[in-house]
Parts: sequence; structure tokens; C-alpha cells
Amino acid sequence: MKTALTGIKPTGVPHIGNYMGAIRPALELTRDYRCFYFIADYHALNFIRDPKELKQNCYEVAATWLACGLDPAQSAIYRQSQVPETFELSTILMCFTAKGLMNRAHAYKAMLQTNRELGRVPDDGVNMGLFTYPVLMAADIMLFCADVVPVGRDQAQHIEMAQDIAQAFNYVYGCELLKVPQPLIREQTQTVTGLDGRKMSKSYGNTILLFLPPKQLRKQVMRIVTNSQVVEEPKDPDTCNVFAIYKLFATEDERNALAERYRAGGMGWGDAKQTLFEKMNDVLTPYRERYDAFMADKPAIDRILADGAEQVRPQAASLLAKLRKAVGIV
Ligand code: ADP
Ligand code: TRP
Repeated sequence: MKTALTGIKPTGVPHIGNYMGAIRPALELTRDYRCFYFIADYHALNFIRDPKELKQNCYEVAATWLACGLDPAQSAIYRQSQVPETFELSTILMCFTAKGLMNRAHAYKAMLQTNRELGRVPDDGVNMGLFTYPVLMAADIMLFCADVVPVGRDQAQHIEMAQDIAQAFNYVYGCELLKVPQPLIREQTQTVTGLDGRKMSKSYGNTILLFLPPKQLRKQVMRIVTNSQVVEEPKDPDTCNVFAIYKLFATEDERNALAERYRAGGMGWGDAKQTLFEKMNDVLTPYRERYDAFMADKPAIDRILADGAEQVRPQAASLLAKLRKAVGIV
């Protein structure tokens, strides 16, 4: 059986983009793969400096996985921080990672660019955790010899870097000690658009959160930006943010029916948004109820995550033993 692995960093409440781009495709793999799904809490430490917030975010991400259908009896779910072998592997990988490779990371380059534009020194606000973020991510992946990593498009470069690092290591020791991972990026959900039509992202403030109560969900949906066409005009579903999100939730018949109403004219944006809200609310309500139940029992989440870590650590330890031997560290 092949292995699938992915992580979500607990930097905020999960949104529709996280669900469609990462969580749902990852859960679909649980039938055919051994799955390792974790909360990348040390990755989040680069961004969240309020301990209470970091802790709360971890529960939210864990509860999201569980509410969306992850079964801990079938797939492993754990906190990255509870698998300390990750950090030893990360230290090993650092020695095989070219600094130039890290210089090319999109997130780092974007920070340099912003600093340049603001007239600051280039590395202003860049710490080593951020600079070496892709190495820690490579360690997460290679620790469990993952074959595939289900992620959204924005993570493609990080997976390529993990491949480069694995290959550099394997080349030195002349055999495939580290599995070279493959990204799994779904065509339809590689980039879910947000309220303003850009990629939905916490950093753009354009998200629709997954588990909002119905009233707030409706309010968010009503904020989706549309053009200024009037009710009577026929509309193009393929260029519309509302339809783009509807497509992710609806069946093919429902999609075709709404597309017809767009093209026929006579449907205003308010109507389209109401249709989207009702569909989303139908799909998300059972998840929301499970989510609320998990969030009301944090000790249960702690137990599930600790059990998950305990279950996977022996495999991590055995890989590390092999690597230590290979590199000559007793
Ligand atoms: P954000 O951009 O909101 O900070 P994260 O970086 O925490 O989101 O992403 C967690 C996972 O969700 C990653 O696998 C990422 O690729 C996926 N993801 C995030 N936003 C989107 C989106 N708009 N469309 C598709 N996948 C996404
Ligand atoms: N970097 C990912 C993100 O920002 C989170 C992550 C950390 C991850 N480690 C991983 C994803 C390992 C896949 C595999 O969303």
C-alpha cells in the first residue's frame, strides 16, 4: 500500500480553500493509501506568536480533520511537535540543502520584494524558521516515506524542493534512502477563489470559513464580488466567482441547472448567492455539528492526537536509525 501524507499549519480557522484543496482530496485517499495527516504546529510558530492562539488553532485544525471524516482508527492524525524525530531529520536534511535552493522559495522571495518596495533592508522580518521552512516540510514528508502529498497548487514548489533535497541526499550515499515524494494536485480545486476572485487565502482576508453558523455563512457569501450586470442580462457562469465556488459543492446536474439559469438571464446576483449559500449550508451542516462537538471536548482531541503520534513514531525511529547508520552517526 502506498503512503499519502499532508500537513496543515494551524495559522487560523480552516477555510473552503483548505477543505477543497487539501482536506477533501486527502480524505478521498484514505481508501487506497496509508495516510498520515498532521498539524504542522512548528511551521505555524513562524507566524503565530500568541501561545493561546497557537494552541486554539491546533484544536481547530484537528477538529476540522475529524469533522470532515478522518477516522483515527484508519489514518494517523498527529501534531508535528509530538513526533520529535521530525526535527532530527530536519537537521540531517539541512546539511544537504543548498542555501541557493532556499533563496528561490516563493514565500521568501515575496518577503524580499515587499521589503525592497518599502525601502527596508532585504531580510527585514525574515527569521531562520521562515527561511528553512521548506526543509522542515521535507522532513515531515520523508520521515514517513510518503509517496504522494495532496496539496493545493501553492505548495507545488515546496514539494519540488523536497524532491531536490531527497535526491541530493540519496546521491551522496548512492542508494534510495529517502523516498522522493510526488505532489498530488487536483485540477479542479488547485486554486479555490476567494470573495474577491483572487486565491482564497488567510493572508488576503478573502476567505469563507468552513464552519460558520448559517447566518454568518450567508453574510460571507453575500460579500462575494460580482460584476455590475443587471438582473435581466444573461450571465457567464465561467467567469463568475459565485459559480466557481458553487461548482465545488454541487453535483453535475445541479451545476448544469444553475449554469442554465445564468445563461437564460432574469437571475440577479442576490439569487445566485442565495442558491450558493443554501447548497453550502446543506453540505456543511453535518460537518459543522461534528466540529462543534469535537471543539467542546478538547481532551478527546488531545488523546486522539497523542495516540496518533505514538502510533507513527516507531516508523519514524526506524528510518532515523537507518539514516544515522548510513551517515556514520552512531
Ligand atoms: P492559507 O493560504 O490560507 O494560509 P495554508 O497555506 O494554511 O492556507 O494551506 C493549507 C492547505 O490548503 C495547503 O495544502 C494549501 O495548498 C491548501 N490551500 C490553501 N488555500 C487554497 C486555495 N485557495 N485553493 C486550493 N488549496 C488551497
Ligand atoms: N507548508 C504547508 C502549507 O503552508 C503545510 C505543511 C507543512 C505541509 N508540512 C507539510 C504540507 C508536509 C504537506 C506536507 O500549507
